[in-house]
Amino acid sequence: MSELLIRGGTVVTADWMEAADVLVRDGRIAEVGHGLETAGETLDAGGHWVMPGGIDTHTHLAHPIGRLGVTTADDFYSGTVAGAFGGVTTILDFGLQDQGGTLSGARDGRLEVIRPDAVIDYGFHLIVTDVNAAVLGEMPGLIRSGFPSFKVYMTYGDKKISDDDLILLLEVTAGNGGLIYAHCENDCAVTHLIERHLAAGKTGPAYHAASRPPAVEAEATNRAIMLAEVAGAAICIAHVTSSGAARHVAEARRRGAPVVSETCPQYLVLDDSVYDPAGGCEVAKFVCSPPMRARHHVRSLWKALEEGSIQQVSSDHAPFRFEGQKTGGCGDFTKIPNGLPGIETRLPILFTHGVASGRLSPERFVELTSSGPARIFGLDRKGSLRPGADADLIVVDPEREVDITASMLHSNVDYSPYEGMKLRGFPTWTVSRGEVIVADGELRAERGRGRLAERSPIEASELP
Ligand code: URP
Ligand code: ZN
Ligand code: ZN
Repeated sequence: MSELLIRGGTVVTADWMEAADVLVRDGRIAEVGHGLETAGETLDAGGHWVMPGGIDTHTHLAHPIGRLGVTTADDFYSGTVAGAFGGVTTILDFGLQDQGGTLSGARDGRLEVIRPDAVIDYGFHLIVTDVNAAVLGEMPGLIRSGFPSFKVYMTYGDKKISDDDLILLLEVTAGNGGLIYAHCENDCAVTHLIERHLAAGKTGPAYHAASRPPAVEAEATNRAIMLAEVAGAAICIAHVTSSGAARHVAEARRRGAPVVSETCPQYLVLDDSVYDPAGGCEVAKFVCSPPMRARHHVRSLWKALEEGSIQQVSSDHAPFRFEGQKTGGCGDFTKIPNGLPGIETRLPILFTHGVASGRLSPERFVELTSSGPARIFGLDRKGSLRPGADADLIVVDPEREVDITASMLHSNVDYSPYEGMKLRGFPTWTVSRGEVIVADGELRAERGRGRLAERSPIEASELP
């Protein structure tokens, strides 16, 4: 029997916050109470907050971008180490179906890639790119066996699926406890606008954003929600960035539709000023899809988080090195690999700009970064400090402030979009299944110690 006692901290869950001790036994939460004792290891959490570990349900580690012949710069070791330093104890990444391939083949191949490297627990959404009868037939079994969510792209070249195919997928998830997780942008409009910009000689990184305006996102978001309603299915909208998309989600929820959504830190603290053409190739550091938006959209997203119409904040960690990866598109923005690094800074950004600034309660912070994601994606043993839950938790000194530089972060990239920011909310200790894996800036985790997280089918009625 192994025990760990986290003594004298302030415990914060999605529902309550009070001074308490947390006793962990054999990797699970045993008790939360007062005056607890152990013969095992004790962490003195005086002055700290003790919270469920972060769950990041949107990461792209070792993720190939076939069209550009590049792969994201973090593998499952560097990416999960970065996560652990940023307070993340579970990730859900992606497993890509090849054209002509099966979903179970994608699952098996992805498990082989992740298993030797991950230092925290993991799972993944299967990205469906080729919809056919065999794939639709595989889905119920995958859902029952712990792979209940499926990512779809409504744009993005060879990964895009049609509306016809989206309805078919939604019909299968509706009846079987699955969930479609949708990247929503109108492909016709994006393709058209890219061609217009290139033809006008507007080829630099700054024009990426102009080719994907907010209306493109709002239209596809509404279409995905409506198709889900037609099929009687639940849906999760990935990375909401604009007021229009957020409004469609909020309206659907008001009429009782099982629609949930996420946003990401980059859309909450950056804006479209990063796309100033005067920035030259440096702008490529901020190329992601959807792009950052004007300030009034940023304000709408904060309002949606406060009011509850966005239910989770994930990172969409898609790290590419500036030198040699992003710079490949300095003269043609369509050649810049899309995405930002952010797995390590997600919790600190939301803590600093949400909790410390008074916009979000500490409980809401836990809901958005841990308990909500667990409920949305069927991670029954994660995201809470209830007795019996996996003892995944973080111990954070709420006053400690860190100056962000790329070199102090652990991702395998040569820049940070947040360089120069001062952030609070980094953990002093990160605990995964009762093991201290980060202590005072030191990694204690062995490569490959992470496990596949158990997941259940997703009941629409249980969604936050
Ligand atoms: O620009 C982004 N977000 N790249 C990652 C791929 C995705 O999910 O959109
Ligand atoms: Zn996406
Ligand atoms: Zn993504």
